[in-house]
Amino acid sequence: MTSTFDGGRTVLKRSGRVRDDYRGRGIFHTLEAELDKHTLEHRPRAMYDVFANTEKEEHLADKFLDMGFKEICRKDMYHMLLKFSCLRNAPATGPNKRVPLREVTREDLKLLFNTEDTARQLFPSGRLLNTYMPYRLLETNIQYMLCERGGAFVSLEDPDVAGKESNGQISTNGRDLNPSSNTPSQSLDAVSVKHVAMISFYYCYPTPAGFLYYLDPYARKGLSSAHFRAHLQKNLETLQRYFPDQDGKLTVTHDLNISADDIISCLRDHGIVDQMTDQEKTQILYERDRALSGFRVEK
Ligand SMILES: CC(C)(COP(=O)(O)OP(=O)(O)OC[C@H]1O[C@@H](n2cnc3c(N)ncnc32)[C@H](O)[C@@H]1OP(=O)(O)O)[C@@H](O)C(=O)NCCC(=O)NCCS
Repeated sequence: MTSTFDGGRTVLKRSGRVRDDYRGRGIFHTLEAELDKHTLEHRPRAMYDVFANTEKEEHLADKFLDMGFKEICRKDMYHMLLKFSCLRNAPATGPNKRVPLREVTREDLKLLFNTEDTARQLFPSGRLLNTYMPYRLLETNIQYMLCERGGAFVSLEDPDVAGKESNGQISTNGRDLNPSSNTPSQSLDAVSVKHVAMISFYYCYPTPAGFLYYLDPYARKGLSSAHFRAHLQKNLETLQRYFPDQDGKLTVTHDLNISADDIISCLRDHGIVDQMTDQEKTQILYERDRALSGFRVEK
């Protein structure tokens, strides 16, 4: 199947599946050719083709390069079994270390995407890769991230500094910002947006085998683990609001700005220790410029 993002500029190809006993007969190639035809006919303004795969297809990298694709970014991921009965609060880290969080609004995200320096630090490749869904930092994509089953939380680099500089508008002094009291005065502004240290996106849905909750945090380089700790805590509260007392699967992705050790240890503190076996460990985003690859692209 294909989907479009970036206001129709990008086409994502995904979820190709051929039954085991029919593989190797060219069915996938035929399906791909049909999808390419569909894109030319119905999405004539599409400028980029993208797809995300995993380390399991790493041996095909040369083939993708030959087809005009470039690797844009990659992220590691952990697929954890989440058992409600094992879930617990993490040990307290002391009042001074508490990182205030707030829920992100559309306006916040728009401002963040347009604040070049902060956006570059959080998203060095200029993309979000939220569990296989790649987005450019465009306002038109916000609808896919902040939606019925998805949202985001943000924390600032140094709440005291940010609070003073933005005239106390965002937070502070270790006070927890309750997202339910989401008043306009808590919005990011031109000053506080420069202090955004971590943003975590979530997307979740139920399945017959239990819920799936995807957590995609992005951080500045060298950030203290207290930020991820706070984001995980807030996301687990959110998860329990969606799926009270249920078991399911939590997938956490991260790039090099968040250490695997921090993730594992924070998960462990909450009693989340069972990693699913045989799951993909890395997602890799590929993109090609359609015009450069000889496709007709309408202006
Ligand atoms: C990948 C898959 C759809 C291929 O189906 P198929 O009908 O056997 O494929 P074909 O006979 O048309 O040809 C195999 C081609 O697929 C390519 N291929 C294999 N895995 C691929 C992948 N993940 N992404 C893109 N191409 C892939 C092979 O390189 C080969 O190309 P070549 O002939 O140019 O060397 C099938 O193996 C499958 O269902 N795999 C499990 C699900 C999966 O990994 N899907 C792909 C990502 S969504």
